[in-house]
Amino acid sequence: MGRNLLAVSELEKDEIREMIRRAGELKELKKQGESPKSLKGMSVGLLFEKQSTRTRLSFEAGLFDLGAQAIYMNPEDTQLGRGETIADTAKILSSYLDGIIIRTYGQEKASELAENSTVPVINALTDLEHPTQIISDLFSISEQGINPEKFKLAFLGDGNNIANSFVAASAIMGFDLSVAVPPGHEPNPMIMDEASELGNSEIEVTYDPASAVRDAEVIYTDVWVSMGEEGKGTEVFSPFQVNEKLLSFCRKKTLIMHCLPAHRGEEITAGVMDGPSCIAFTQAENKLHAGKAILEFCLLD
Ligand code: CP
Ligand code: NVA
Repeated sequence: MGRNLLAVSELEKDEIREMIRRAGELKELKKQGESPKSLKGMSVGLLFEKQSTRTRLSFEAGLFDLGAQAIYMNPEDTQLGRGETIADTAKILSSYLDGIIIRTYGQEKASELAENSTVPVINALTDLEHPTQIISDLFSISEQGINPEKFKLAFLGDGNNIANSFVAASAIMGFDLSVAVPPGHEPNPMIMDEASELGNSEIEVTYDPASAVRDAEVIYTDVWVSMGEEGKGTEVFSPFQVNEKLLSFCRKKTLIMHCLPAHRGEEITAGVMDGPSCIAFTQAENKLHAGKAILEFCLLD
């Protein structure tokens, strides 16, 4: 029973629509101090090889809200840290748990875990994708009165996990996307090819941030140095900073989004990050509500 969520491309438009709708419903219920115990009695493991504040805590709190138990595992504290294989670990965890949420480096590790598990596996970020973030962000966008199937998003920065998941989401949902990156930091070519085969939206990769943001309803940025890339140079990214000058090229009412953590003075200025157009903290809160919708989608399907 249940289903994996390893990449955005596994989803249908109607499934994303339903998760957005359910996230809104769960948010409303939470405001009234309620939460359905739809996952009552379940145990879900979180196997995180990278740091996390929002994703870990929102899934842990969300599982509690839904009546389930979250079990956090630092791989170093398990036998994975002493060389037990991911395949053997998957079989063992499947016999105790009702679902596994993994944050790791290579996408292939998440896939190998899923292939050897008999319970659903949810990707909570790999180097390639961050599907739960993008579903949650589409909920945040729709909550702002923007149709998540008909708008333009400009992504500025490094074309890795967040950008890749937006490319896949654009092709499924139909919104237009302009990804502005320095040369050599373009989104994954396979994900770009799959998106262009679907052909449902305009997806542009450009080296010109000012042209990317023109006509965009939403500007989105992410850290320049992702987890696992520590020590990487950031000079090439400086023209892609979301700052006051860039906003002068935009429409008047442009939303600014950031998955967080933010590095003020790098990918975004403090003025923009803490200004009235930025919804980063709402995005962070919404990870709780959308995370609960994703858990129900994967574990109850
Ligand atoms: N946005 C996000 O995934 O944040 P964390 O790394 O804190 O989980
Ligand atoms: N690209 C970032 C996203 C953090 C949520 C990283 O992988 O570190």
